Amino acid sequence: MKTILLVNASPLGAASRVYAVARKAADNLLEAEPDVMLVERDLSAMRLPPIAGDYADAIVQRAESHVPAFAQSERLIEDVIACDYLIVATPMHNFSVPASLKLWIDYVLRAGRTFTHRDGNKVGLLEDRPALVVVGSGGFYNGAQARQPDYLSPYLTHVLATIGIGSVQFIHLQGLVRPDMAEQACELADRQLAVHPVFGLASALTGS
Ligand SMILES: Cc1cc2nc3c(=O)[nH]c(=O)nc-3n(C[C@H](O)[C@H](O)[C@H](O)COP(=O)(O)O)c2cc1C
Repeated sequence: MKTILLVNASPLGAASRVYAVARKAADNLLEAEPDVMLVERDLSAMRLPPIAGDYADAIVQRAESHVPAFAQSERLIEDVIACDYLIVATPMHNFSVPASLKLWIDYVLRAGRTFTHRDGNKVGLLEDRPALVVVGSGGFYNGAQARQPDYLSPYLTHVLATIGIGSVQFIHLQGLVRPDMAEQACELADRQLAVHPVFGLASALTGS
């Protein structure tokens, strides 16, 4: 059975607009493929513990995966290894990822486990798989109305590539603080998602 992993980093959980788009993407896949199941991780509800000294020590000392300090990290990594499709729903917080998603990243990126070093570069140890990132922002960072930098999209692209996931697509919901803009952003996101070859309605119609 195939698995979709939906990681939701919105503090609003299932009430968030980025989650709604991400969930639609998952539902399209569920409709397209009868033999697929959805695993959801609501990072705000999970309240991952901040990185503690034992984890930091274990990382630096390249401890074995079975040490207790890696238990949380192992659970999150297993989620990613087990998934065939990865969907991340995230708001922009201060130009980058929210703290809950940063913690998830700090637990999932581990030298010797999800990436290794080759010729001085970090190389992913996981197989590539289709990934979709849905980003929500109160203001704009793309297009004519852009008034702020976007450290989120290049960062998350690099983070996922570091573990081997290079097939990443983004859907941006910008201007969410203004209700009229938010409505437009959601409509645009729906249109972009509908034609997406993997996560869109097209996949539901063709079963691809
Ligand atoms: C702590 C915090 C920081 C934020 N920083 C930014 C920011 O840097 N840029 C921006 O455009 N919006 C920022 N926002 C607005 C959120 O991105 C926006 O409310 C969120 O994407 C709404 O998504 P939702 O409708 O899915 O909940 C911030 C919100 C919070 C709570």
